[in-house]
Amino acid sequence: MQHDQHRSLYLRAGDGAEPQGLISISANSAKLGMCSAISVVPIQHGEERTMTIFEALRADHDVQRALINDLVNTEGDSATRRRLFDEIKAELQAHAAAEERHFYVPLMASDMTIEKARHSVAEHHELDEFIEQLEETEFSSPGWLVTAKKLEHRLLHHLEEEEREVFQLAGKVLSENDKELLAKRFNNELKEQKLAIGS
Ligand SMILES: [Fe+2]
Ligand SMILES: [Fe+2]
Repeated sequence: MQHDQHRSLYLRAGDGAEPQGLISISANSAKLGMCSAISVVPIQHGEERTMTIFEALRADHDVQRALINDLVNTEGDSATRRRLFDEIKAELQAHAAAEERHFYVPLMASDMTIEKARHSVAEHHELDEFIEQLEETEFSSPGWLVTAKKLEHRLLHHLEEEEREVFQLAGKVLSENDKELLAKRFNNELKEQKLAIGS
């Protein structure tokens, strides 16, 4: 069944014919990535080093910083403003879901990090509320940009707090193996979430 799903995805994406190889490979490897996350094998000593959860999160944070910076520099109800809003909405949703599952849930198991983890998850809800407010506001109104700038302020604060404070504590709680396994799981989940959202 799983195999058939991968196969049909591949055939649909590539149309069974000419190259379009990148699309096929990308969609297919994201699906396969989800499977490998379920039966992940601990990394053995001497194997090639992969990225850590901190590097994975920071890379995605940089995507968010670029998107929010572009968003607050848009004017009026333009196609660019709508596109960037849709992109950052999907990005924040996918990032928070993957980060909560593969970073904050493990951190909630330790007394040293449980409070920070809860605080960050609460901030994800605050960011969601700004996104909802923006959806309910006329894109052409001055109030829209005021709210977008509030979102920018809260988001930049959130990312900095994670990178400066949470990462430091998490570095003491997670083993080297954990840091690499969580990066793989986070990256796989992020791809899955983005596919599901359709971004
Ligand atoms: Fe984050
Ligand atoms: Fe976060």
